[in-house]
Amino acid sequence: MCGIFAYLNYLTPKSRLEVLDLLVTGLKRLEYRGYDSTGVAIDSPDSKNIVMVKRTGKVKVLEDAIQEHFTGGEYSEPVATHIGIAHTRWATHGEPCERNSHPQRSDEGNGFVVVHNGIITNYNDVKTFLRKRGYEFESETDTEVFAKLVHHLWKTHPTYSFRELVEQAILQLEGAFAVAVKSKHFPGECVAARRSSPLLVGIKTKTRLATDHIPILYGKDTDSGKPQVLPRSDSTSEFMPLEEKEVEYFFASDASAVIEHTNRVIYLEDDDVAAVRDGTLSIHRLKKSLDDPHAREITTLKMEIQQIMKGNYDYFMQKEIFEQPDSVVNTMRGRVRFDGNAIVLGGIKDYIPEIKRCRRLMLIGCGTSYHSAVATRQLLEELTELPVMVELASDFLDRNTPIFRDDVCFFISQSGETADTLMALRYCKQRGALIVGITNTVGSSICRESHCGVHINAGPEIGVASTKAYTSQFISLVMFALVMSEDRLSLQQRRLEILQALSNLADQIRKVLKLDSKVQELAKDLYQHKSLLIMGRGYNFATCLEGALKVKELTYMHSEGIMAGELKHGPLALVDDSMPVLMIVLRDPVYVKCMNALQQVTSRKGCPVIICEEGDEETKAFSSRSLEIPRTVDCLQGILTVIPMQLLSYHIAVLRGCDVDCPRNLAKSVTVE
Ligand code: F6R
Repeated sequence: MCGIFAYLNYLTPKSRLEVLDLLVTGLKRLEYRGYDSTGVAIDSPDSKNIVMVKRTGKVKVLEDAIQEHFTGGEYSEPVATHIGIAHTRWATHGEPCERNSHPQRSDEGNGFVVVHNGIITNYNDVKTFLRKRGYEFESETDTEVFAKLVHHLWKTHPTYSFRELVEQAILQLEGAFAVAVKSKHFPGECVAARRSSPLLVGIKTKTRLATDHIPILYGKDTDSGKPQVLPRSDSTSEFMPLEEKEVEYFFASDASAVIEHTNRVIYLEDDDVAAVRDGTLSIHRLKKSLDDPHAREITTLKMEIQQIMKGNYDYFMQKEIFEQPDSVVNTMRGRVRFDGNAIVLGGIKDYIPEIKRCRRLMLIGCGTSYHSAVATRQLLEELTELPVMVELASDFLDRNTPIFRDDVCFFISQSGETADTLMALRYCKQRGALIVGITNTVGSSICRESHCGVHINAGPEIGVASTKAYTSQFISLVMFALVMSEDRLSLQQRRLEILQALSNLADQIRKVLKLDSKVQELAKDLYQHKSLLIMGRGYNFATCLEGALKVKELTYMHSEGIMAGELKHGPLALVDDSMPVLMIVLRDPVYVKCMNALQQVTSRKGCPVIICEEGDEETKAFSSRSLEIPRTVDCLQGILTVIPMQLLSYHIAVLRGCDVDCPRNLAKSVTVE
């Protein structure tokens, strides 16, 4: 949902071409967040002006334009300090075109230029205010309002520092945003801020940093040009902001854009403003509140650069599908002891007694993350013996769903930044519920705002369509159910059966992945159709929903996940000899009912492709096309049945010439409601 990247080198000479190269690489890492248009801003060779290049389309188009534009030797001269800002856009206000691309500027002289992720909800009011003061707008974006407002404040408050100007502008704006601002009036300075949209600061120094924290600052800049440190009453010492001799700073929407440069980052909190001046980074709060922490921690990222590269695969999605034998093991690593049948979830273990006393469990998420809740609901009900509600975050909020202090609410999110899920989290937190985050992104908003949680450890997921995060979310919730039932004698046999199945899962996933070429053949039969129905029930209903979502988002074909029990209540009317149908029919408690549905389909001349258990000749006999998956315990089948769906949508997308990693109109991390 828009990627922001900014770079500042202080006393570490770099040519403008090198800076541009860094910006473009940063944007490539963030491209999955939006790819409607891109842009960069750097200083002109005489450092008196700001030069911008913007293009519609993907980062590659911008890269080519930059190569064409910046050829002169003047751009190869090393400069001691430079600031470049860059953006890849997922359009919210205004069609994708150069005019609406970021950076947006304050005036024709490019006095202030801004890159922004999020939505400024009161932008129309601010626009009217600025128009009355003579400002003319050149784009339809909400972002331009920000740039022009800073400019207006600069003209009316000439003594304000750059940071104060940005702060004052933010105080006038409503909505969710992360911004990075550059100005020709404040050379060598960069200001970035966040409210509800993610932003982090990467720090690269030649020597080890002398501190692990940087203090939060409040108030106006003093005469000396240094902001004041106003320690909280319980603090006994004063800190200085981070001041290094030679340093490079990176501002980015997520860690994947900085990991190749540094693993030392600060995750900004809502209403933090980070400013770099004379190489010194300081972090400020817009408003002082008693809950504010004293300092921001400098965290060490555990991510490896290889994790965000495609390797030998054609697409990130393909790589991520094939990573699943490893990612599921990583989710269980250090948590499941197969020899002692013990499970420890470190992030929530202290809360288990409280969770056991709760009134009900609520599982809340969007898209694929929501499907992982649907997939595990039945097992959670069985092993916790608690009512379990599964909710789409947006609908949950629309309904003002009643929440009680003794509810336990799980927020499931790969990115940890999805706006709807985050809003739902805050809604439940305000009402006193216990908040459990299930996320894949350390340091994300959902992670930080939860009382406790499980990190799914699937590794970075770059393909816009979620794959390995789904199977890891699934396993995380299964592990939680196992923890909750640890002391239930009557459930021990069932727990053992599940633990045994978990220990075989990676090998079974490898076996399912071997179906790849068979699935590719199937894709050749299906890719020219308009529609695809996916049917199942019980533990596999979630696979139908998730499979249909994958097909829709990647191939732009219509697809529907149908609860087989509902077939005769309407969807059966869609079935004829030309409608492609996929049916999941496994030897589980709903097998007989699934067979009924299968017969209903075949008796309407439907020719379904059947997903059945290995060696189940009887079921296979109902169709000329089938995919056989290994047998596992009923509640884990969904992990094995979803993989052929992921592969199928992938192959259909390739055959239809769709951009697998960047489906049209979508972005990976949806940080607007
Ligand atoms: C589908 C997909 C989306 C996300 C949804 C929630 O492949 O990726 O449906 O699952 O936008 O995102 P997270 O999990 O980041 O909250």
